[in-house]
Amino acid sequence: MSEPRHPDLPSGPAPWWREAVFYQIYPRSFADANGDGVGDLDGIRDKLGYLELLGVDALWLSPVMRSPMADHGYDVSDPRDIDPLFGDLAAMDALVSAAHERHMKVTMDLVPNHTSVEHAWFAEALAAPPGSAARDRYHFRDGIGDDGSEPPNNWPSVFGGPAWTRVTEPDGTPGQWYLHLFAPEQPDLNWENADVVADLEKTLRFWLDRGIDGFRIDVAHGMAKPEGLPDHDWGEQGLLTDTDADPRFDNPAVHGIHRGIRKVLDAYPDTMAVGEIWVRDNERFGEYIRPDELHLGFNFRLAEAAFSADEVREAIENSLTAVAQVGGTPTWTLSNHDVVREVTRYGDGETGRARARAMLLVELALPGAVFLYNGSELGLPGVDLPDDALQDPVWERSGHTERGRDASRVPIPWEGAQPPFGFSPPGTETWLPMPAEWSALTVEAQLEDMTSMLSLYRTALELRALRPEFAGDEIDWYGSPPGCFAFRRRGGGLICVLNTTDAATSLPPGEVLLSSAPLADGMLQANAAAWLI
Ligand code: NOJ
Repeated sequence: MSEPRHPDLPSGPAPWWREAVFYQIYPRSFADANGDGVGDLDGIRDKLGYLELLGVDALWLSPVMRSPMADHGYDVSDPRDIDPLFGDLAAMDALVSAAHERHMKVTMDLVPNHTSVEHAWFAEALAAPPGSAARDRYHFRDGIGDDGSEPPNNWPSVFGGPAWTRVTEPDGTPGQWYLHLFAPEQPDLNWENADVVADLEKTLRFWLDRGIDGFRIDVAHGMAKPEGLPDHDWGEQGLLTDTDADPRFDNPAVHGIHRGIRKVLDAYPDTMAVGEIWVRDNERFGEYIRPDELHLGFNFRLAEAAFSADEVREAIENSLTAVAQVGGTPTWTLSNHDVVREVTRYGDGETGRARARAMLLVELALPGAVFLYNGSELGLPGVDLPDDALQDPVWERSGHTERGRDASRVPIPWEGAQPPFGFSPPGTETWLPMPAEWSALTVEAQLEDMTSMLSLYRTALELRALRPEFAGDEIDWYGSPPGCFAFRRRGGGLICVLNTTDAATSLPPGEVLLSSAPLADGMLQANAAAWLI
């Protein structure tokens, strides 16, 4: 960026992550080199040429550490090894150096809030008595009621059901309960325990020493828990936490943990961390990215906003405000492995696709870092999977009332006319079934088609990287007709116009650099966006 962002920030060249385009790879679903129906690290390495062509700056790999995969890698049994399903440490090293040769950074998911039940520490805790040092690394408590058969408090798990599971003690009697904010296979760590703190530092250094450029911190608003784990009066509860209304998340003690992470990263030049922060209050959100905490925080407002000019504008203003107070960098994301794919969210079919194209231009016009989710560049919709294919723990935990997130995790179609579309070798059964109609959405089908979603992504990313009009940290809003908006990058001068109405609208003066749909008589079509200079 050309201008200083904040009076308190040091001057000098801007760090690489400040305007980077990150590409999230869900490793199970990206590319399967060994033909077992599940994606792997060698598969990713084979596709680096594609990622370079696409024009992304950095990769974020969802977890590839050792895991029994109860939550597909977000249940880690050894944070300093690669799961054999994905490869081994040598495969990871090879991927990192091949990505670096192509000038792409590699960042990894870290899961410090919980471990897997198959982590050595948890086995130790189960074998040890109540009150032992081994149990202190987690949150073990006696149950309530005469026989301790009721959970210690009334917290629900994010995946449904209670946040507590009762263990059987080594002598065979029903025993204590342990806390798991997510699945029972994901026991929460006790962040007041010194072993837990020391072990994360060891993990950070382990990967940084191997050349990893940064981390995405899972549940960065979790970890610290309130004194005494008090009961709570639960109302309607979504993912985006209203801080004061949920004792499970955003405890102020979490900031000490982030300062610790930052201290380690500061010793490795050019590395960074981005936190998954589902916190609605802007002031509280901003605290996570103070200069001595995380470099970036995911802001999910854009992923939550409907395709409405007012809602999108509000999401943008909110996200800018949340970081401005601490001189932080905004981040933008339309989707990830936890939310409904944008094409489907915006209405599916041609309309959904047109709107997703428009929103890409909005997202890439904004100052800050962008996170793209694999498959969005192909315009993949969410997939309506049959019940017996569902694997997300949410499906079981909710008693088959919530289908979970598998719809957004179906493998990427690369080439050919039928499943598995080059994701796996022909004839392989993929871990989630791929729809036959994706033959029109493969990379191969879209690469040479200048009207495809993939071509729009490539063009837009190239312009964003090269054109001086994208400079500047601030935006100014123009007056616009209802259902439309226009903003201008202060500094570079790029203008972005969005039309969420069902009629064409006129454009402000300027030369059109790119539009998400062809102009009609010089007008911007319904469900479209354009860049002007
Ligand atoms: C957030 C991750 O993005 C999600 O996929 C996972 O299930 C939970 N954290 C628990 O680790």
